[in-house]
Amino acid sequence: MSSPQPGNILPLILDPRETLFIKPGGELGAPGDPNLVGIIPPVAPGNFGSKAFRKEFNLRYAYVGGAMVGGISSVAMCVALADMGGLGVFGASGLRPAAIEEAIARLRSELPEQTFGSCLIHSPQDPAWEERVAEIYVERGVTLVEASAFMQITPSLVRYRLHGLSTAPDGTVVAPNRVIAKVSRLELAKRFFSPPPPKIVQEALNRGWITEREASLAPLVPVAQDLTAEADSGGHSDFRPALTLWPSAVRLAEECSLRHDYRQPLRVGAAGGLGTPMALLAAQDMGLAYFVTGSINQSCVESGLSEGGRALLAKAGQTDVSQAPAADMFELGSKVQVLKYGTLFAPRALKLAELYRQHASLEDLPAEEARNLEEKIFRKPLSQVWAETREFFAARDQATLEKAEANPKLRMALVFRWYLGQASRWAIAGLADRRTDWSIFCGPSLGAFNEWVAGSFYEDPANRRVADLAGLLLHGAAVMKRLALARDLGLLPDDFHGLIEPLPPEELGNFF
Ligand SMILES: Cc1cc2nc3c(=O)[nH]c(=O)nc-3n(C[C@H](O)[C@H](O)[C@H](O)COP(=O)(O)O)c2cc1C
Repeated sequence: MSSPQPGNILPLILDPRETLFIKPGGELGAPGDPNLVGIIPPVAPGNFGSKAFRKEFNLRYAYVGGAMVGGISSVAMCVALADMGGLGVFGASGLRPAAIEEAIARLRSELPEQTFGSCLIHSPQDPAWEERVAEIYVERGVTLVEASAFMQITPSLVRYRLHGLSTAPDGTVVAPNRVIAKVSRLELAKRFFSPPPPKIVQEALNRGWITEREASLAPLVPVAQDLTAEADSGGHSDFRPALTLWPSAVRLAEECSLRHDYRQPLRVGAAGGLGTPMALLAAQDMGLAYFVTGSINQSCVESGLSEGGRALLAKAGQTDVSQAPAADMFELGSKVQVLKYGTLFAPRALKLAELYRQHASLEDLPAEEARNLEEKIFRKPLSQVWAETREFFAARDQATLEKAEANPKLRMALVFRWYLGQASRWAIAGLADRRTDWSIFCGPSLGAFNEWVAGSFYEDPANRRVADLAGLLLHGAAVMKRLALARDLGLLPDDFHGLIEPLPPEELGNFF
């Protein structure tokens, strides 16, 4: 038998719509030929992930653009993803309730039929915000939220999930409000896969947020039917390796489905690290139900991030990211993953976290350190930062202000959080004068994407559209699957890696 000739058959393998009937020696045969040694079936991106997930959310592709804080995952991004048959989640975290209401109204009018989601982020520093946002979703009929950063199930989340719960004539429970939970830890995943805790249901009932009927049906539904297992990603991250997290989460979903005897099996989606077709195919082969991207989308034209920020992102490599303290959970020591290419935010923010750990108050900082902070980081006296912070909390959160007035360590935390929060806003707005302070959440998936598309049409961030990137990953994964099948059939040499080129939009369009 002659050795495989990748050159002859490769173009056919690369079109995932073709069925290939293979005869001995790698020759092409016809259906029904008695000498066939194998078949390479078509691989359709529309079959990736879970059919039930696609049906639940009325999608053509099990592909999700995850929420990105401060409207970075914008209305335009959600619309573009919905139009290609995927799902976009609006980045409501960090926005004022009025801005969220406005975005929801736009999404509803632009997507009257298609599904979109919006973020409900746990907000231990500002519980009133979490309550108000959950209320907006209930009032405005938002039927899908991505619930993130929850360390426990809160009454606001339970209110959202249980609102409108009823039974169909056949006795099945109908839950109009869907929750996609996002976690990195299995112990938290278990809580989301369980029915809401009775104590929290009672609390929501006592507050008049749910009816007796809704409370009585609570034991029959999981808090979240879908759960995104988030490995090392941009933004809040536990930096878990995908290769260990994803299979464990899939297994947990199976266990919990059996234990609670739910009518519909629980589902697990993959997030963290999806920046190439190969990564998406790995998630598909591990049994994940859907695929969530974030970092790559932030570099696209629909992103709410400034043009300057997107230009930096497009140049980053996989190692150009770093841990930094999270603004919203600074005192708890939570971490986010940010870009370190072209900005000094990470080392500056880490310096603040170190000073916070070592000192009891702003007044306790050594004079030299305080001067450094005022000159290099805050660019104004610390007393002035506190005055501005005070004003902010006086208008928004009197209780925290009172605590801070009495607690110098908390005062220091709020002043330091001023910088962490402003640095994200400066990046979103593209404030040139603060370029070295820009805080841009980003994971290594973006560097992997940049490496793959280097030298192609997509190297320039002006050419990056979220729907095209989704298409690139999905189509590419289908092609990679075909290459793997061809290798198994001996049609390609074992060491043939088949690194596929990113197709330009006009060619990609043929497949979608
Ligand atoms: C800039 C940025 C902001 C993010 N903000 C949020 C957020 O507000 N809520 C949330 O649930 N996830 C947030 N994420 C996580 C993404 O939704 C997504 O889960 C993650 O980016 C996937 O991993 P990847 O970064 O490797 O693509 C953010 C990610 C990035 C890059």
